[in-house]
Amino acid sequence: MAKLTLLACLGVLLMFQLAASTKLVCYITNWAQYRPGAGRFTPGNVDPFLCTHVIYALATIKDNKLTTIELNDETMYKSLNDLKNVNPLLKTLLSVGGHFNSLSPFIKMVSTPENRQTFIQSALPFLRTYGFDGLDLAWEYPGHNGSPVEDKERFTALVTELREAIEQEATDNRKAPLLFSAKVGSLRDTIDNAYEVPEIASQLDFISLMTYDYHGFWEKATGQNSPLFRSSADVGSLVHRNINSTVTYWIEKGAPAEKLLLGFPTYGRTFHLTSSMTGLGAPSDGPAYAGPYTRDAGYWSYYEVCSFTSSATVAWSEEQKVPYAFQGQSWVGYDNEESYSAKASWLTAMNLGGASVWTLDMDDFGGSFCAEGAYPLVNHLRNSLGFLPKPTTTKGPTTTPDPFSSFCSGKPDGLYPNPTDKTTFFQCYLGNTYLQRCQPGLVYVDACKCCNWP
Ligand SMILES: *[C@@H]1O[C@H](CO)[C@@H](O)[C@H](O)[C@H]1NC(C)=O
Repeated sequence: MAKLTLLACLGVLLMFQLAASTKLVCYITNWAQYRPGAGRFTPGNVDPFLCTHVIYALATIKDNKLTTIELNDETMYKSLNDLKNVNPLLKTLLSVGGHFNSLSPFIKMVSTPENRQTFIQSALPFLRTYGFDGLDLAWEYPGHNGSPVEDKERFTALVTELREAIEQEATDNRKAPLLFSAKVGSLRDTIDNAYEVPEIASQLDFISLMTYDYHGFWEKATGQNSPLFRSSADVGSLVHRNINSTVTYWIEKGAPAEKLLLGFPTYGRTFHLTSSMTGLGAPSDGPAYAGPYTRDAGYWSYYEVCSFTSSATVAWSEEQKVPYAFQGQSWVGYDNEESYSAKASWLTAMNLGGASVWTLDMDDFGGSFCAEGAYPLVNHLRNSLGFLPKPTTTKGPTTTPDPFSSFCSGKPDGLYPNPTDKTTFFQCYLGNTYLQRCQPGLVYVDACKCCNWP
């Protein structure tokens, strides 16, 4: 009997470990709410079971304190964090960055120990107040864009002091420590001038590599946004404009592989062709036309790319493991399920900590554009990384008579046993009833609000 219990515990532990060892971190942006029609995205569009972590971009720094950007941020913070009533395992973080007069507010904030303390002492209560599980630093970049060379060391000081404060706050309030991550650059010069890699990597829980924007319309020739490997046409420093080079460099400089998350773009970068050449390295004089939803020339969301590829010519860069497409004078280098598969297998072989998606709002989140279902890229990534299937949810009230559709009406958000079937349970969220199923072999136990061995 005792042996059986032990085995059962081990089984549950193993299952948790499988799920916990790989991260699928997904960014959402508070400016996606302004896209028109079916492009409009708010936290209500997040699938609570798709990613292990959702990061809300972007908050900023004013008077050295963490603060909102959009007028409705507080409302959207709440609707994001309320998703944890549906999936209690979901973690949320708030990403801080932005610019004032094209300068990062990090520059002034890190410049003195007092300013850093002002930030830290404002940030931790801010995150707790709104129900976030952690903080993500998104400074592009220390030592760049008007930030002095000293900021490389000051960034380390900020990271170190934040880590100390996070541990202290957790002890003081008897809570799990807030999660702590950063979103970092990919080019060798940027890495050299911005980061003391071993010092920051040891203090952060995970690091999202911006392994995209390697090429774009600012160049005179077409190139891939996020290639896995170099192209044989790359010469000079261009040989480093790929994922393989970035990741091996971060590891070489002292970052533990298991803390690095590979950045997966849900967008492509566009070019305007100026000759009859249509391959990689074809002459270009700028971006293709702006996407009708993202409305910013130079990139297209995946749901805009898939409208283009329905009639464009699609090609595959075998060396670089990413597709491109062209039609007329428009060219786009992008990612699809095939490139996501190649990158997912590669990151697994490299023992990286997982994936970081920029962003959920540029995938075909509603499934209305690409005829590949909702979130085709991120669902494919989830499957490629070997995650267990998402729980099947039945949203009520349904059109067919359902004895349980009103189960949650008037009940507080949370989990409830299903009296007629122990292998399932109810999740109540905003009065809606969701029927959830435990993994095969497990039953719902109300005492722990979890699925366990019978
Ligand atoms: C990946 O990067 C490593 C280290 O920079 C290099 O030796 C290797 O050739 C690269 N692989 C490919 C396929 O480019």
